[in-house]
Amino acid sequence: MRYLKPFFYGLAVLSFAILNLQCKPEQKKEAVETETIVTKDVTIEKHDFGVTPEGKEVVQYTLKNTNGIAITIITYGGIITSLKTPNKDGVSEDIVLGYNSLDDYIKSSPYFGAIIGRYGNRIAKGKFTLNGTTYTLATNDGQNHLHGGLKGFDKVVWSATEETADHSASIKLSYTSKDMEEGYPGNLEVSVTYTLTSDNTLAIAYQATTDKTTVVNLTQHSYFNLSGDFSQPILDQELQINADTYIPVDETLIPTGKLEPVEGTPFDFRTMKAIGKDIAVANDQLKKGLGFDHCWVLNDQDKGMRYAAKAYDPKSGRVLEVTTDEPGIQFYSGNFLDGTLPSKNGGTYAQRSGFCLETQHYPDSPNQKDFPSTILEPGNVYNSKTTFKFYVKKEE
Ligand code: GLA
Repeated sequence: MRYLKPFFYGLAVLSFAILNLQCKPEQKKEAVETETIVTKDVTIEKHDFGVTPEGKEVVQYTLKNTNGIAITIITYGGIITSLKTPNKDGVSEDIVLGYNSLDDYIKSSPYFGAIIGRYGNRIAKGKFTLNGTTYTLATNDGQNHLHGGLKGFDKVVWSATEETADHSASIKLSYTSKDMEEGYPGNLEVSVTYTLTSDNTLAIAYQATTDKTTVVNLTQHSYFNLSGDFSQPILDQELQINADTYIPVDETLIPTGKLEPVEGTPFDFRTMKAIGKDIAVANDQLKKGLGFDHCWVLNDQDKGMRYAAKAYDPKSGRVLEVTTDEPGIQFYSGNFLDGTLPSKNGGTYAQRSGFCLETQHYPDSPNQKDFPSTILEPGNVYNSKTTFKFYVKKEE
């Protein structure tokens, strides 16, 4: 009997293994079916989008849901090249400015649809000091540093992975920004995940870590025109910003350091109003920005992820709603567009043919001691999240 025991154990193990093997094909089948179910409402398509002059291949991904929303992202600059959403009659049209070819993006782009970093917005005179060391960045906007420098995150090729989950699909873009790249200290590991959900939300999750103290302020620079017709100015489109104060700037668009109440100024977007309503009002700040090109101080900063802004186009019925965990939002009314850049649908992009809502920390924070800090220390993780939700509103 003593000798038979191991034999029975062996038999038991063997039969378990056989049973298991027999079950496997069925389990596999189930897993595949489940996967189809969870991903069927948001799909991912992948195509080539050309090669950069340095020989790097660029890939284009399209995330699509069953409600007519399709978002196309390229690995060059993490650019959203197209974002189609339905109007009130159910017709899907592209609502973001951009180009048809990689060459056009490389030639000249005012950050159309791109990821902006390492520091979105301006740093005065391209200088800041950290732990007693002064760092000098490129001055690519007059005397100031803008949007990460000469070759910011909008001009590099990111690596991409696809991810699927219940009722959503994501593209995760990753990039390593080397120590002293564009003058910033520390090797920065960055990722930006674009997720489209079946309930019509585009979520953007930013993450970064560093091996030396540095500054980080990432954002997304899509130019929206909710009409779906880029030949139309955005002036009749309406906007609400959940902010009681905004940040006035000097003539080089660097914050003066003071926060001003919006009340009684053209910067009051607390209730929905047309973008064009006050844009031409005689106002020193509007003159400096050539229109709106300012950072609003969002309310409820202790609440984490919260409502930030809403844009509405009465003609198409399209609504864009923004939530974020960032303290600020730069609203830029496309003032520098001047009719020289080629539009995707023929024609050119005229002034005010698109607007940007760039969630972020305040401009020039590394030089403004009273602003929320943009410093990232080794061992800590930079995390930032913004969502854009799309829906339609029928005539009231
Ligand atoms: C941001 C800036 C603007 C301008 C645009 C790109 O929105 O605040 O001043 O640089 O980007 O042209």
